Amino acid sequence: MTGERLSELLADMPLRIAAYDTVDSTGNILKRFASLGEPEGLLIVAEQQTAGRGQYGRKFFSPKGSGIYFSLLLRPKSDAAEATAITVIAAIAVSKAIEAIAGIPAGIKWVNDVICRGKKVAGILTEATLTSGGIAEYVHLGIGLNLYGGAFPDDIAAKAGGIFEREAPKDLRADLVAASVREFYALYSKLPNGNFMSEYRSRSVLPGRRILLTDEAGTRVVTAETIGDDAALIVREASGESKILTSGRCKIELI
Ligand code: BTN
Repeated sequence: MTGERLSELLADMPLRIAAYDTVDSTGNILKRFASLGEPEGLLIVAEQQTAGRGQYGRKFFSPKGSGIYFSLLLRPKSDAAEATAITVIAAIAVSKAIEAIAGIPAGIKWVNDVICRGKKVAGILTEATLTSGGIAEYVHLGIGLNLYGGAFPDDIAAKAGGIFEREAPKDLRADLVAASVREFYALYSKLPNGNFMSEYRSRSVLPGRRILLTDEAGTRVVTAETIGDDAALIVREASGESKILTSGRCKIELI
């Protein structure tokens, strides 16, 4: 059972772990606890979500058997800008965890999709609940890992894949969650001073590639150039004009 193995693997960490079979969304459970004053370090894990949520209000396909879904409650001490840093370090942490456990290279598609063999294998959602003064009251870090491909509906099958090409002989769900959480905390403990952007850039799959960009100006092909220290993506339009993109305001697709 994932919960028991996970508790063993993370026994030395300041976490409280609750593992479920099926939930609507691990994020919904986490938010209920957070609003009751639960301190940082609550980890909610589920084998299946019936209403998994992705970025921009999209659904996150979360079937039983081929993935693992988890949410971590954070109460960062400084300002809300840390939500961006949390997204950045979560993407680094998950890609490092996949490399360590699955032994395959994992890259980051700006801003927070983890890519193996050209397909998205993990999605990350960072949601900050702010006080009236703009301080993060708490942050929900939600991560969905696709272990195996094959079960995706047609609309996402072309873009989504599994960390493993076929079912692994040993169930590695708990190992992947534990490694992701451990890698995350190693970086999170360096906030607000750590600089993670050089590692993030080195793992990024976009720079140098032609990508499909959708923003307020419409949908078109642009060339990704680099990612700035503020985690903005700099692209070049077909006209030659350079444009700075902020996450949440645009959609990027690999072509
Ligand atoms: C995305 O790719 O758009 C982000 C997906 C985030 C999914 C995770 S799974 C655990 C947590 N619970 C949710 O409902 N969503 C996040």
